[in-house]
Amino acid sequence: MARSSRGYSCASCGARSPRWAGRCAACGEWNALVEDEPPGPPPRAALSSRAVPRPEGPSPLSEAPLRAVEAAPTGLGELDRVLSGGLVPGSVTLLGGEPGIGKSTLVLQAATAACSGERGRCLVVTAEESVEQVRRRAERLGSLPGDCYLFSTGDLMAALEAADKVAPGLLVIDSIQAIADGSVSSPAGSATQVRECAQLLAQYAKATGTATILVGHVTKEGSLAGPRTLEHLVDTVLYFEGDRHHALRSLVAVKHRYGAAGEMGLFEMREDGLSSLDDPSALLLADRQAGLPGSAAMPALEGRRPLLVELQGLVAPAHGQQPRRVVQGASSSRVAILLAVLERCCDLPVGAADVFVSTVGGIKVSEPAADLAIGLAVASSLRGRPLAFDAICFGEVGLGGELRQVSRPERRLAEAARLGFRRAVVPRNTPAGQSGLELEEAGSLAEAIAAVGLLAPLAVAGEPSAAAGAL
Ligand code: TYD
Ligand code: MG
Repeated sequence: MARSSRGYSCASCGARSPRWAGRCAACGEWNALVEDEPPGPPPRAALSSRAVPRPEGPSPLSEAPLRAVEAAPTGLGELDRVLSGGLVPGSVTLLGGEPGIGKSTLVLQAATAACSGERGRCLVVTAEESVEQVRRRAERLGSLPGDCYLFSTGDLMAALEAADKVAPGLLVIDSIQAIADGSVSSPAGSATQVRECAQLLAQYAKATGTATILVGHVTKEGSLAGPRTLEHLVDTVLYFEGDRHHALRSLVAVKHRYGAAGEMGLFEMREDGLSSLDDPSALLLADRQAGLPGSAAMPALEGRRPLLVELQGLVAPAHGQQPRRVVQGASSSRVAILLAVLERCCDLPVGAADVFVSTVGGIKVSEPAADLAIGLAVASSLRGRPLAFDAICFGEVGLGGELRQVSRPERRLAEAARLGFRRAVVPRNTPAGQSGLELEEAGSLAEAIAAVGLLAPLAVAGEPSAAAGAL
């Protein structure tokens, strides 16, 4: 097995050791082992003839030099929305996501779109696919601009030489785990290699003003030797997510030094690539059916954009087995809390039953504002009675079952009104705004359940159906 040649040397006698120890085994000196410098050529702000700017001395904050930071749009609308306008020259962006989710497609579309803008040339270094494969994909996406260059290599120095030749405004490395610096002996994809390569690429980006995107694979569990270790090294971290069985893909900025983080872009993966979703709420609610127990609509807020999502709950007998909890698209820990609150504060027997909670359309909603919708969906399924079709709900549920305010209620209500909703179950003192929605205020989850009629006795035959909506 290849072993890293990097180790430790004793500052006192020079003896080498493969790992750190408190005391040098050769001369007995304490605290003398220091890590070796990486072997091979020193980082050459990568081959570029353009010099790295020298840091200036300290200056008062008010007099600190200001350079204009102008983001240039890539031309891919949803990507630009997430980046607060576009890519800043010299910035490094990490694009993480599970394999197969569409990262290569996204960066290729960004590169081909950016070529037609002000950015000029783009260079896509593909370390995982051949140039032919990428060209075929570009043909499928319907864009082959002459200013978009491709280079297939797994060697970092070769990639940087190519970048020096092309002098692109946008450099894409696909992926950071498949590229390696020959002077580092650990294999491509290892933590050391990934960090070294990212560091050199970041230096290159800063020295040359090249906006750089690094693609990184993340596993469901988090990462292997992955992008998470790079987050501090880069200016922007984007995560590309979605359910592979659905066409919807979301792009979120979890860190952004040049604008607001938390903004979400939405795409649909189609035969001819990713297309921006202009009205995602309408798409997410398209298949919603009236009269279905266990379904609740809620206006989620991802970044500044409100998004109407349908949350579904299903309660089924566990038949004496260990009750199962399956959660898709929502937070498992919040669902666990809500089930405990339903049992203890609302007198609803969910503890011994199988409970399934899912968002519709493969969208992920992790904010606590979804608590009320989850609670009502589960209660609705348990009672076998639907919630009113024209009502939405939102609110955070505390451990005491109390309902708490959430951020930007007016924005959420306005989006619901735009989509034709007429009523809303909300925490007490929620400002109504201009939406015109009829508000049903509740102080607790139990009050909300009572307000929508789920605590009332079940309708008996002959009585009007509960499907009419008790709210
Ligand atoms: P890809 O961009 O290769 O994913 P990643 O780089 O994250 O591993 O895309 C993978 C999937 O996207 C692949 O299974 C096929 C699908 N796809 C489409 O549905 N339409 C398209 O136009 C393209 C290019 C890909
Ligand atoms: Mg790929």
